[in-house]
Amino acid sequence: MIIILLGPPGAGKGTQAKELAARRGLVQLATGDMLRAAVAVGTEIGVKAKSIMESGGLVPDEIVIGIVAERLEQPDCRNGVILDGFPRTLPQASALDAVLKKKRRTLGAVIELKVNDKALVERISGRFSCARCGEGYHDTFKLPKVSGVCDVCQGTEFIRRKDDAPETVRDRLLVYYRDTSPLLGYYYCKGNLRMVDGMAPIDEVSGAIAGILDSIEGKA
Ligand code: AP5
Repeated sequence: MIIILLGPPGAGKGTQAKELAARRGLVQLATGDMLRAAVAVGTEIGVKAKSIMESGGLVPDEIVIGIVAERLEQPDCRNGVILDGFPRTLPQASALDAVLKKKRRTLGAVIELKVNDKALVERISGRFSCARCGEGYHDTFKLPKVSGVCDVCQGTEFIRRKDDAPETVRDRLLVYYRDTSPLLGYYYCKGNLRMVDGMAPIDEVSGAIAGILDSIEGKA
C-alpha cells in the first residue's frame, strides 16, 4: 500500500509515519530526513539543498523526484510505503503518478492532517530530537520519560532544527499554502483524499489513521 501524509510543517506527518512504520511494517520515506542526511554528509544534492532548506524554501522538483523514484526501486519498498513530505508540488504529484503507473502500483490513500496555524508554530518551536537516534520530542507534548535521557537509545544529547526558528516557520507555512495545498484539490478530484483532525492527541490521530487504512484493506 502507498500512503501519502499531507499537511503543513508541524502537522504531525513524521510522528504518524513512524507509528505506521512500526505498527504496519511499512517503509517511511521522509524526503526532509533524506535531504537532511545528504546535507550532513555533504553530497552534491546536500550542498544544493542546504541553504534552500535553511530558508524554508522547497528543494527543486527534479532533485526530490529523483531521490524518491530511486528509493521506491529498493526491495524493502515492495510491501508498502508511507510518503512523509512528498509530494509537495503539483509537478511532484504528477511525477509520482507516472512512477506508480510504470510500476503498476496504486495509491492507497492521501491523508490530510488538519491543524491550525497557531498550534503548528507552537509544535514546531517546542520540537527537539535525540542527536544519536533521531527520536522526536516536544517541550510540552512529548518529553523524555527521564529528563535529559532519550527513551529509545538513552542518548543524552538533543538537537533542534535550524529551520524551526520562528521567522523560518512562517516562511515554511507560506510555502505550504502556496505550493503544497493545491494538492488537496488534486487528490480530492482523484478520490484519494481523506481528512484527519490533526489537533487531536497523538494517539487519537494514530487511531483515526488506522481506521482509514483498515477500511481500505477491508478490515473495518
Ligand atoms: P520536512 O522535514 O518534511 O519538514 P515539514 O514538512 O516542514 O514537516 P515537519 O518535519 O516540520 O513536521 P511534521 O508534520 O513531520 O511534524 P512532526 O511529526 O515532526 O522538510 C524540511 C525541508 O526539506 C522543507 O522545508 C524543504 O526545504 C525540504 N523538503 C522536504 N521535502 C521536500 C519536497 N518533497 N520537495 C521540496 N523540498 C522538500 O511534529 C511536530 C511536533 O509536534 C513534534 O514535536 C511532535 O511531537 C508534535 N506533535 C505531533 N503530533 C502532535 C499532536 N497530535 N498533538 C500534539 N503534538 C504533536
